[in-house]
Amino acid sequence: MTTEAAKKRIEELTDQINEHNYKYYVQAMPSISDYEFDMLLEDLNKLEKEYPEFADENSPTKRVGGDVVKEFKSVRHKYPMLSLGNTYSEEELTEFDNRVKKIIGDNIEYVCELKFDGVAIGLTYIEGKLSQAITRGDGEKGDDVTTNVRTIKSIPLQLKGNDFPKEFEIRGEIFLPIKTFEKTNAERIEIGETPFANPRNSAAGTLKMQDSSIVAKRGLDSFLYFLYGKDLPFKTHYESLKKAKEWGFKISPHMQRCKTLYEVFNFIKEWGKERENLPYDIDGVVIKVNSYQQQNELGFTSKTPRWAIAYKFKAESVATELLSVSYQVGRTGAITPVANLKPVLLAGTTLKRASLYNADQIAKLDLRVGDIVFVEKGGEIIPKITGVDFSKRTSMHQLKYIENCPECGTALIRKEGEAIHYCPNELGCPPQIKGRMEHFASRKAMDIDGLGIETIELLFDAGLIHNIADFFYLNKEQLLSLERVGDKSADNLIKGIEDSKKIPFERVLYGMGIRYVGETVAKKLALHFKTIDAIENACLEDLLQTEEIGDKIAESIIEYFKDKRNLEIVERLKQAGLQMEIHPDSIKQPVSDKLKGLSFVISGTFEKHSRDELKILIELHGGKNQSGVTSKTTYLIAGEEAGPSKLEKAESLKIKIINEDDFIQMFQ
Ligand code: IVH
Repeated sequence: MTTEAAKKRIEELTDQINEHNYKYYVQAMPSISDYEFDMLLEDLNKLEKEYPEFADENSPTKRVGGDVVKEFKSVRHKYPMLSLGNTYSEEELTEFDNRVKKIIGDNIEYVCELKFDGVAIGLTYIEGKLSQAITRGDGEKGDDVTTNVRTIKSIPLQLKGNDFPKEFEIRGEIFLPIKTFEKTNAERIEIGETPFANPRNSAAGTLKMQDSSIVAKRGLDSFLYFLYGKDLPFKTHYESLKKAKEWGFKISPHMQRCKTLYEVFNFIKEWGKERENLPYDIDGVVIKVNSYQQQNELGFTSKTPRWAIAYKFKAESVATELLSVSYQVGRTGAITPVANLKPVLLAGTTLKRASLYNADQIAKLDLRVGDIVFVEKGGEIIPKITGVDFSKRTSMHQLKYIENCPECGTALIRKEGEAIHYCPNELGCPPQIKGRMEHFASRKAMDIDGLGIETIELLFDAGLIHNIADFFYLNKEQLLSLERVGDKSADNLIKGIEDSKKIPFERVLYGMGIRYVGETVAKKLALHFKTIDAIENACLEDLLQTEEIGDKIAESIIEYFKDKRNLEIVERLKQAGLQMEIHPDSIKQPVSDKLKGLSFVISGTFEKHSRDELKILIELHGGKNQSGVTSKTTYLIAGEEAGPSKLEKAESLKIKIINEDDFIQMFQ
């Protein structure tokens, strides 16, 4: 292929992929299969590798992320990011309407939109390309999160059509759909992270992550709702959004032009009910004056536009008695206080419990047992207590947060800067032990058939198992001694345990339940260190050399192996015959074929990887290693003090010379 042809093909593929992306993520109407889509993406990936000079920063291949940002740049907003005035009642909305009409008269049209409960974002497009994405920050300055925003599939990197302004900003909301939020939380709980309280916090947390490849996997979505720019070619807001939709932005279909306040109230009423059926959270309705000219006449107060207002839904709330507070202990030892309530009906369900989150929340509410409390079901999935009816208070006794674990009696700890109390007795506290065992036996870890939480509880309560290593020393008689375990299930369980001894090392490592060591981290550790002994003996610096491992994970691994009891468990797992070294096939097993057909020569020393690691990476991604430069070499990866003869030969054969970062880019 000539360079010219490659350039053209890259452009064609980019357009095609962008169009399919739009059909899938914005219109929810895909026209090709996932497989066909992946093939197109792969073709583009390969061409961009071969011709990096044509790889655009807005290429759809950038959607998978990979760039890591240590600190987000603070950037001044071109147009301050204001918030909106809030109202909760029809009266206040009528006052807003009166204020508007007083200035611009009766001839008015409003646009009603949903008020999405996410994180506000400002996207700047220059010549149709996404150039910058900034968070609200303090309204004057926000964080540049462009790298992360590029991974959000419903945000166009390249606009469609050709009638967009040369430069403009579009504002909107980034959010996490409820289903995706639930999945994210389940995963967080699994690796011992505190779950997010609601989809909004989850979206905010995700947008500020340093590693964009994790953001890419989280499933953030967007709705855009306002345009800024010099001399925008529109007369009305409605028109601007219709055009923005044509350019490829995700614009909510649920908006309506209203001539009267009556229509506005109806829109609000309708969505007050319908919101339950939306796959994302909304917390109200936004009402905007449609005409740009009228918007200009109305102008702004110091904080908010006078031409728009947010009507916020009141969360449904009831009053009931707080009977008691109980404390739950999770697999990681995190304590969750739960309010036990006198049963009461709220939004169609009988409520008996509400989350209290943590000690600070209890103190803030100044709760006492016997209080009449207000309970709300807002955006949060679990109902929460929002306040106390102090006029009805009879109890004198302030609630005192527990100091000891309700399950094992150990004194609780609270790490600096964290809101949550933990029971530190990881190896002696029953729910923690049982939780860890359940995790160990789970599908993604050891995948032991027939070993669910019920069986684990039976075995644990009978005193037959105390930690994960004990599974491998159980015999059939012991199992038969348990209630509800017959001959067949005992055999199955023994077989399941035996079979699990073949489970590869990276999954054993994941199953061990070291805090913050999830599936991906376990894989990276296994690949880097190769044996459990090497991980056990690694110091902090060694661990930090591993891809994707930062301070928090490294410290947690060091902590784990400092404890003699853990060392004993590991030793017994080894004795039992589990895989404690990476299988040579796992090393060779390709992770991707992004480097397929490419041959590499490595010369010199490198910052991030050793030469051996680079060689493994090449093979892992389907490439070939060569010892010397020949006409068949595709790239010479040159580090510090690369051999001059290799460099010369590469130059004379016109072979591309790249550095370590260029190389890493190729498969990330
Ligand atoms: S218009 C000057 N429209 O709610 C125009 N905002 O409480 C300002 N929001 O700052 C924004 N949905 O973060 C607008 N359809 C919508 C919205 C919306 C959610 C957010 C936005 C805003 C906040 C105000």
